[in-house]
Amino acid sequence: MRKKIVAGNWKMNLELNEGVALATEINKYFNSNPLNEKEVVLCTPFIHLGFVSNVLNAPGLTAGAQNCNDHKSGAFTGEVSAAMIKSTGAGSVIIGHSERRTYYGETDELLASKTIEALRNGLRVIFCCGEVLAEREKGIHFEVVSRQLERGLFGLPAEEFRKCIIAYEPVWAIGTGVTASPAQAQEIHHYIRVLVEKRYGREVAENTTILYGGSCKASNAAELFANPDVDGGLIGGASLVSDEFCKIVKAL
Ligand code: PGA
Repeated sequence: MRKKIVAGNWKMNLELNEGVALATEINKYFNSNPLNEKEVVLCTPFIHLGFVSNVLNAPGLTAGAQNCNDHKSGAFTGEVSAAMIKSTGAGSVIIGHSERRTYYGETDELLASKTIEALRNGLRVIFCCGEVLAEREKGIHFEVVSRQLERGLFGLPAEEFRKCIIAYEPVWAIGTGVTASPAQAQEIHHYIRVLVEKRYGREVAENTTILYGGSCKASNAAELFANPDVDGGLIGGASLVSDEFCKIVKAL
């Protein structure tokens, strides 16, 4: 049975005290409203990670990072390693978010290296893929997503791939208020599962969690999550408000 997961991506928001307050509130909610078999990950800025990890004790609720460096350690001023992330108590890391691909020029090859380094340190990888608007309009979104997965993720052997989650995030839906329709999401999530099946076989594909991200909020989460190949969400803006975020998890 594949896991149902909601991950919050705080991006570069919230000062330390605000982040700890938000995590404390969310933790309180999931202590009173148990997640049971669901999982929730709060992907915070690096600064917050150790503090947030210390606050979280509700079963199924953990912290994650939004990026990591592809090297083990050393002279990489300003960077943060996968081992450092792990040492805070965090369990997951987002790799290949479109904002990192676009603003920081992260290539598929670099993302493949980051993924290996994250897995080597026992972190679960939330690997993002998704097309920009022009690619969707040209009808090449399937090829784009396929290429991102082939180059960034499918080099892994099956036992490593199993520790990864895929997040499909159409770039035109991120932070825009425009959400993929449930049918658009299901179509491409199914396509991704078929790609996984071709590469790793049916059993692995059936057990792969595929999240949807892009303007997912409490008001549209249920219809997106109702699709058979949508196993949860990667939530940006709506993860910054405890009540809204908890409602999204409830919709799962
Ligand atoms: P959004 O961001 O929910 O604010 O659209 C999603 C993401 O970038 O992960």
